[in-house]
Amino acid sequence: MKVLGIETSCDECTAAIVEDGKLILSNVVATQIPFHAAYNGVVPEIASRMHTEWINRVVGEAIAKAEIEVSDIDAVAATAHPGLLGSLLVGLSFAKAFSWARNIPFIAVDHMLAHLYAPRLACKNGEAPEIAYPFLGLLVSGGHSIICRADDFDKITVLGATIDDAVGEAFDKVSKHYGFGYPGGAVIDNLAKIGNSDAYNFSLPNLHKGDHRYDLSYSGLKTAVINQLDKFYVGSSGAGGGKSRGNNACEYNPADIAASFQKTAVEILLRSLFRAVEDTGLKRIVAGGGVAANSYLRETLAKRQDLNCVFPPLELCGDNGAMVAGLAYQYLARGEQSSLRATASARVKSFKRLYP
Ligand code: KG4
Ligand code: ZN
Repeated sequence: MKVLGIETSCDECTAAIVEDGKLILSNVVATQIPFHAAYNGVVPEIASRMHTEWINRVVGEAIAKAEIEVSDIDAVAATAHPGLLGSLLVGLSFAKAFSWARNIPFIAVDHMLAHLYAPRLACKNGEAPEIAYPFLGLLVSGGHSIICRADDFDKITVLGATIDDAVGEAFDKVSKHYGFGYPGGAVIDNLAKIGNSDAYNFSLPNLHKGDHRYDLSYSGLKTAVINQLDKFYVGSSGAGGGKSRGNNACEYNPADIAASFQKTAVEILLRSLFRAVEDTGLKRIVAGGGVAANSYLRETLAKRQDLNCVFPPLELCGDNGAMVAGLAYQYLARGEQSSLRATASARVKSFKRLYP
């Protein structure tokens, strides 16, 4: 069964064809990053407008690259939540219209469940790993940071989540403040490779009791790293681009800042994750989302030989249509499909929480 998957929840306009929930026949990702870079963040109005302009071409390219005809597509799926409402609506409306016009099933999927599905996909001629349930999910992106227990492709229990900023958001904001570049995650990851991660000692949030045992917090770290910039510019006035803060600046190495921040950001994640491992006894961990591309996170988890850590390939960590098509197949295989009345929602679907 060939499923067309469409994902437009943020700033990637992407469509893919996936066969039987596993084999990626094509995965076209048209990124809008250059159009948002000038603003150091995603501008929702620009994002939805560009999706509207691009979606038809992106879907056409996905069909062409898969070397199939439109009539070969058995079902169509799109992300319905969470994300930017205007952006979500473009992909969702396109998918619903496609379903109606072709008279094929339509599936609306959740973005976070799709990220968690990504490691099960195989590129052409590749092998798709079998990942048995249950496992612990580490969902880390620009909008969300979730530690969960997964019992099925659509059954997760949130053990912990960020109580303020998402981890990817912290990477992006630190990068913006220091003028490192946009989006911040990949830039800081690269810069950190030549930096000393012990140069600065940023402390971990004080979240370790009761209901907050697995929760995460990034606003304290983000503020500490940003305030550190002011310490380099003694007597400077106000926030703003680091390089324009007057002449009384002391020298600092941006790579050291990047490495020290990244080390603490990953420590925050792993502290909660390892608590969940200890408490649940689950030794299998599946990561997903843009921050799952982080090399320090991947290397640090790989060192834990007692754990089985599964990461998506780098090209499937960020937003992509393949994870949407793959996940949709699982609903179809269970005989389910969505109504054409399904609509978009900016918020994360209310997953069951361990602590209500
Ligand atoms: O999943 P994603 O593409 O979009 C959302 O659903 O939010 O994640 C984007 C986030 C951004 O915050 C970006 O800075 C971050 O993932 N990111 C990274 C890396 N690559 C992307 N964060 C840390 N290290 C990376 N290598
Ligand atoms: Zn995402």
